[in-house]
Amino acid sequence: MRLPVSTWPDIDAWLKQSTTIVIPIGSMEQHGPNGFLGTDALCPEIIANHAESLAPDELLIGPTFSVGCAQHHLDFPGTITLRPSTMIAAMVDWTDSLLRHGFDRIYWFNGHGGNIATIEAAFSEIHARRSFDPRGADTRPDLWLQRRDWWDFAEVMSLCKQIYPQGHGSHATASEVAVTYWAHPERERQHTAMSPKIAPNGSISDAVRYRRDFPDGRIGSDPTQANAADGGRIVAASAQCLIDDVARFGRR
Ligand code: NI
Repeated sequence: MRLPVSTWPDIDAWLKQSTTIVIPIGSMEQHGPNGFLGTDALCPEIIANHAESLAPDELLIGPTFSVGCAQHHLDFPGTITLRPSTMIAAMVDWTDSLLRHGFDRIYWFNGHGGNIATIEAAFSEIHARRSFDPRGADTRPDLWLQRRDWWDFAEVMSLCKQIYPQGHGSHATASEVAVTYWAHPERERQHTAMSPKIAPNGSISDAVRYRRDFPDGRIGSDPTQANAADGGRIVAASAQCLIDDVARFGRR
């Protein structure tokens, strides 16, 4: 089931059988010359929706939290970011809304490495607020929060290594661009050559330094390797891992 295209009675019925929800969470930031700005929000959303199509009775997919922490990409047009403090505040409000209905297992399915520290900080903020609340266990449910990065399943990592032995990279990766091409084949780009073929590696800090060190936006990658067919293999692998992982999470 998908929350944005469900009714409130649908969600009411879901809560009688499960208190788990999956929230795709990403970012709106440049992804090099041939990757979409929404890549990091699209990838977890595409995989989660595919998983839901395979197991509609087992998964409830929430709305995508599509803007995250991307300040370092702001020198590239189209990037939109939240400050970490804003993102934490928004995640607290999303969580409190869901808790009010009875969801006590919230699984954040992440598509952006730059979100990881802030998602974990948001979890700490949410748990701290509950710890300061003097009410006992008899008056409120437990709350389980989980972050999982879509590429971080062992099966997905080994598949990506097999498809892209060279130039997979760490930003604007071949795999993430391929996943978006699978879902939007009509927008797949015929690539012009990128120079250098494999982008440089390095550390990041602010937006100006990022553009200076990584002028076309890529880090360590050759996303000209991306195509829709390979993207479909990656989506299938990650979706099956997601179904299994959420089932384990729901039984905790
Ligand atoms: Ni990305």
